[in-house]
Formats: sequence, C-alpha cells, structure tokens
Amino acid sequence: MDPRFEETTDVLRRTADHALAYLQTLHDRRVHPLTSPAEMRASLGGPLPDDGVPPREVVDQLVAATERGVVASAGPRYFGFVIGGALPAALAADWMTSAWDQNAVLYATSPAAAAAEMVVADWLLDLFDLPRGTSVGLTTGCQMANFTAIAAARRAVLAKRGWDVERDGLQGAPRIRIVVGGEGHVTIDVALQMLGLGTATAERVPTDDQGRMRTDALEAVLAAGDIGAPMIVCAQIGNVNSGASDDITKIAELVQRLDAGWLHVDGAFGLWARAVPELRLQLDGVEQADSWATDAHKWLNVPYDSGLVFVRDQAAHRGSMLMSAAYLVAGAADQRDPSSYVPESSRRARGFALYAALKSLGRKGVADLVQRCCSLAARLAAQLARAPGVEVLNEVALNQVLVRFGDDDELTRRTIRHVQEDGTCWLGGSTWQGKAVMRISVSNWSTTEADIDLSAEAILRCFAQAQGAQR
Ligand SMILES: Cc1ncc(COP(=O)(O)O)c(C=O)c1O
Repeated sequence: MDPRFEETTDVLRRTADHALAYLQTLHDRRVHPLTSPAEMRASLGGPLPDDGVPPREVVDQLVAATERGVVASAGPRYFGFVIGGALPAALAADWMTSAWDQNAVLYATSPAAAAAEMVVADWLLDLFDLPRGTSVGLTTGCQMANFTAIAAARRAVLAKRGWDVERDGLQGAPRIRIVVGGEGHVTIDVALQMLGLGTATAERVPTDDQGRMRTDALEAVLAAGDIGAPMIVCAQIGNVNSGASDDITKIAELVQRLDAGWLHVDGAFGLWARAVPELRLQLDGVEQADSWATDAHKWLNVPYDSGLVFVRDQAAHRGSMLMSAAYLVAGAADQRDPSSYVPESSRRARGFALYAALKSLGRKGVADLVQRCCSLAARLAAQLARAPGVEVLNEVALNQVLVRFGDDDELTRRTIRHVQEDGTCWLGGSTWQGKAVMRISVSNWSTTEADIDLSAEAILRCFAQAQGAQR
C-alpha cells in the first residue's frame, strides 16, 4: 500500500471509532460540560511543536483534550437557541464532503457538487411550495441568506429607479426605505449594516403580543413616508423567541401595491413548517414574497453549517453576487456555478449533506420531523404550565416555548441557571415583552417523549430549588 494512504486509512478508521464512541454517549451525557476557558486552553494549548505529530496521535489528543468542552448540542435534550442535531445520512455525507474535498465554487471545480445543489434546489422549492424557477443559494447560515436576499433586493429596487448599485455603489443613490418588524431577527440588522443600508434608518413596525408584525401598523408606516421610494420590507416566519409568524398574505398585499417594493421573509426555522400540511395554514401567502432565507442546520438537522437563500428574481440574485475574472471558467447555461448565488468564492460543497438529509427523510420524513418537534414542544409546555407558579407566555405555534417562573425576573433567571448546572437538559434565557423568560426550542430529530418528560421533571426540580434559595 502507498505509505501516504496507509496513514490516511489508519487515522480515518481511528476517527470513525472516536466519532461512534462520542455519538453513543450523546443521549446520556451531561448536556453542558463543566469546564473553564483556562482549562480548555491548557488542555489544547502549549507551544506549536517544532516537529509534526503523527495524524493518529493528533486525533487521539484532540479528542481527549476537548472531551470536557464539547457541548452535547446535537443530542436530544439540548433546547438552547434554535439548534438541530445531525441526521445520520447527513453526517455521513458531510464526512464524504471532507473526503472528496471539493471546491464548490464553479461547475468546473466540481460537477457533482453543482448537480447536488441543483437537485436539492428543486426538491426544496417543491417542499416549501415556492415559485418554481426561483433561484437558490447555499450559504453558511441564515445570516448570510438574509444578507444575500437583501443584496438582491437592494439591486432590484434601485434598478427600478435606473440605478446600478453594484457598479455605482450607494453614494448618490436614491434613498431606499427599509421596513422591518419590531421583532425582526438581529441578523437582519447585521445584513443592513454590511450592505451600507444602516440600522438606525430602518422603520420598525410595532408587533402584537406574539411578536407578529401588526399589519395595520405596517400600513400606517408605509403611508407615513414616501410611498414611491424604493422599499424593502423584511417580514418573518418563526420568531426566534415565540415561534410566531407574520401574516404574509396581508403583508404581501401591501407590498405589491408599491411601485418599487420587495418583500423578504426570514424563515430561519419557520419556513420548514411549510413542509407540514397541518401547519401550512399559519404560513399562507409565504409564496408571494420576493425572497426567503432559512437554515438547514436548524430544523432539517444537517450538520453545521448550512443555510439557504431563495430569490424569485434570478437576474437580481445573480446580478448582486456577480464575480468574473479571466481565469474563472464560467459554466455553460446548463452548468451551475454555485458561487454565483452566494457572497463566497471558494466554498464547501454543502449540497451533499443537504441531499442526504432530504433523501433519507423523504417528503413525509421532513413533515414528521417538524411536526414531532412541535408536538414535543406542546407536551413540554403543558407539563410545565400545570405546575403552580409556572406560566407559558406564548401560544406554542411551532417548536418554541417561553416560560416564566413565579412571575419574577430573578426567580426565572435563577431557575435557568439551576437547569444549566443540573445538566439533564440545556436551555437559555431571553426577554419577552420586558420580562425575563426561559426559552425552549425543540429542534432535534432524536428527541423523544421520554426526553421531554425527563426535562420537564428537571426544570420543575430546579424551579423548586430556585424558590428554596430565594426564601
Ligand atoms: C428568525 C431567525 N433569523 C436568522 C437567524 C440566524 O441564523 P444563523 O445563526 O444560522 O445565521 C435565526 C437564528 O436563530 C433566526 O431564528
């Protein structure tokens, strides 16, 4: 055997053993590790060796050194942020992606990666029931999906006023009105920041008690300014705290009346509810938007990182991501150049893991996964709400639950801390309409009713401890 391959064989077999050993403990291990920055630095650190260490030893040492600092966020009782696990097929395809080490920049650099993106794009348009022919980009996450969509919007609304923003920039350009729901996700603000549109000039629309943009207020905001200005309206399905979705039918109706309007929908996790017939009702009208952003590393349970952007106007999408140089071989009409749809040049072939996730679940499997998480979130909410002093503050429309303890900020925060220290499950806190809350997100394919019951028990136990500590 070629000695270079011998070493590779040895280290990959060893790595598979390490990975399996880790995954076998994922369901039972303490969800959040007890470590400190100093401990982590010390176990991984030390000077860069003068001489290289053999690959097998590197991997053994890496696994041993990180053991106390790896969070079981891919496991069934991690309810923090909105974090999915890794479906077996997607994880395996992600391994192959590294083995193949494709650069998914051009068709020329990987016909297979380009084709996987095309197939996945068609599947997703079908699954979400978005307009066929919509162009699709595979991004690192929803942040870059929001960025890409708003870049396309910026190009399109300014082109309507005869302005080429890619060529001439924003200096001297017609002013764009940006309208965002008062509960818009922070990544919309970051996109505005990066695109030179600014955050302070965004017009914020008041929301209702679930965090949905109030459409009467939107109508008033639109009418209060120059209605003929180029305008980008950012709506959302799946509020990061409450899970509530804006009324896109009504919002789309208002935006369609504008002369140079664009409706963007941030559906980082909410868009997946379009795959569930029973949940479709709360997401009616979503197909009428101009662009959409979502994540596959959240509810589809593709390993990090994996986001998706969809833009109805293909020319605006590609025009805003333009890149050309003599040495970059542009693909023919039937050859997708993946980087034409995203801000990156050289990039990981994210299409393979997406392909594997979707194929292993099938249409029914995606719907089951999403529906199951929603049912489990409702089960957890019901168990908590039954206990005296515990209040669920949101309508559990999707997979998010907001819980308040003893109607008291300090008690709520202390309960969260106790749960985090307890280790049975992990969740974080937030502020909801001025009040401290515990936020729970059920987004993992492997979570069972038993995990939910165990977690409810742990949360209520920690609430009792927190009350004891207060007395
Ligand atoms: C509504 C919404 N938009 C955007 C994002 C950002 O996603 P990412 O961290 O994958 O970029 C999130 C993350 O939770 C979200 O909930």
